[in-house]
Amino acid sequence: MALSTTSSTGVHAAEPSKNPGVPSAAKTSSPTVAPEKAPAAPAPKPAAPAKWAVDSWRSKKALQLPEYPNPAELESVLSTIEAFPPIVFAGEARHLEERLADAAMGRAFLLQGGDCAESFKEFNGNNIRDTFRVLLQMSAVLTFGGQMPVIKVGRMAGQFAKPRSDPFEVRDGVKLPSYRGDNINGDAFDEKSRVPDPQRMIRAYAQSAATLNLLRAFATGGYAAMQRVTQWNLDFTEHSEQGDRYRELAHRVDEALGFMSAAGLTVDHPLMTSTDFWTSHECLLLPYEQALTRQDSTTGLFYDCSAHMLWVGERTRQLDGAHVEFLRGVANPLGIKVSDKMNPTELVKLIEILNPSNKPGRITIITRMGAENMRVKLPHLIRAVRNSGQIVTWITDPMHGNTIKAPCGLKTRPFDSILAEVRAFFDVHEQEGSHPGGVHLEMTGQNVTECIGGSRTVTFDDLGDRYHTHCDPRLNASQSLELSFIIAERLRKKRIRSSKLNNMLPLPRFGV
Ligand code: PEP
Ligand code: CO
Repeated sequence: MALSTTSSTGVHAAEPSKNPGVPSAAKTSSPTVAPEKAPAAPAPKPAAPAKWAVDSWRSKKALQLPEYPNPAELESVLSTIEAFPPIVFAGEARHLEERLADAAMGRAFLLQGGDCAESFKEFNGNNIRDTFRVLLQMSAVLTFGGQMPVIKVGRMAGQFAKPRSDPFEVRDGVKLPSYRGDNINGDAFDEKSRVPDPQRMIRAYAQSAATLNLLRAFATGGYAAMQRVTQWNLDFTEHSEQGDRYRELAHRVDEALGFMSAAGLTVDHPLMTSTDFWTSHECLLLPYEQALTRQDSTTGLFYDCSAHMLWVGERTRQLDGAHVEFLRGVANPLGIKVSDKMNPTELVKLIEILNPSNKPGRITIITRMGAENMRVKLPHLIRAVRNSGQIVTWITDPMHGNTIKAPCGLKTRPFDSILAEVRAFFDVHEQEGSHPGGVHLEMTGQNVTECIGGSRTVTFDDLGDRYHTHCDPRLNASQSLELSFIIAERLRKKRIRSSKLNNMLPLPRFGV
């Protein structure tokens, strides 16, 4: 299918967002005032959003994009990708959006996780399987604790491009352009590797398609059946506290399954033998994202078919920037990364630009600011969004506000700081009466030593052993599972508290 570059009339109708703070025409005309004879001046219409097209972002300032030395080669690669099939299908993204709307209302919990950056070198079936497997195990733990559906979204099958705080890297007095992710340049510290190479986008497309193919096979081909999930024993769980806790939980799930089957409730229903799994990545490399954008034939809407969900990063979320311009026109569910630098008014404006029709499920706010900032700043963000009438799904990324430098020079994240931010997230939402809708993690199914702490403690001295990340430090499989138990416990307490509250409400009275 050729890429359509027609402008998207009707994609985002100029509907004003529901804003209870703005008095409506009806509210302003008081019944005690006699109606005026002369026709009232028409209410000023909200400015229609500027026309969007798949390439309208090109007229805006784009941060963090590479400069390719050979524009002709870039154009040729992009037209090749435009002719490739989409990686995901619009209907799947719509389904995810509906599920995320449930999380916005507190009826589901989002588990989003995977590598900081996927890499060409570590592309193999075992890595994909292991990350998928830990995500499924975490999801089983969370479902059990929260007694609500868990929406599983991988930072997988397309999470390549990385924003960098510094465009250059200096080692031993040698200065080279920074590594920006395997779909842009190479991480080896030499001049040739660091030159942006458009051919890498073709490789990223192929790797994304193959990764998603395997994920789909796992999700629907029997691998994700609930009976199997509970039987999984990862090597790392042997002789560990997390392993014992998981086995105990698995045993309880098994008993529940046994009960269901004895009671004649079928356990081989597709709901029990397969799972829904979606993909996501940061929408950073706009030429690539544009090349994979397709107009959906059923709705006429444009979808960026490189992933189901896309997020805008902390460094590229300027209201008048190219990334926001691109994202406002695609109908995928969107994430917005939010650090302590975000102010409440700006957040409300950004949501209004990206979701003018206030569609639940469209916007997920991914806060990442460290526990202390979270306690101070998040309440104001929540109140501003609530006062604007906007419906969003709030989730926590406890990774990006907690990066420190270890004495050996490697970047790491203390498990305790991650935990403290998750706790702050739950506390603030409890205090504000809003819904803690999910968690966004950098994690892997491998037994890496990148984040310090956890009950199978990784120390500063261990970091060098298995430090494989191409960018930020990830939770290993054991730390991921440990975190999921802690979150599950929090969800369980929340559930018990709200059911107690419900029981205290007066019962409805029937009859006469
Ligand atoms: C990321 O998620 O890898 C990332 C770079 O996040 P942020 O934009 O929040 O810094
Ligand atoms: Co990262």
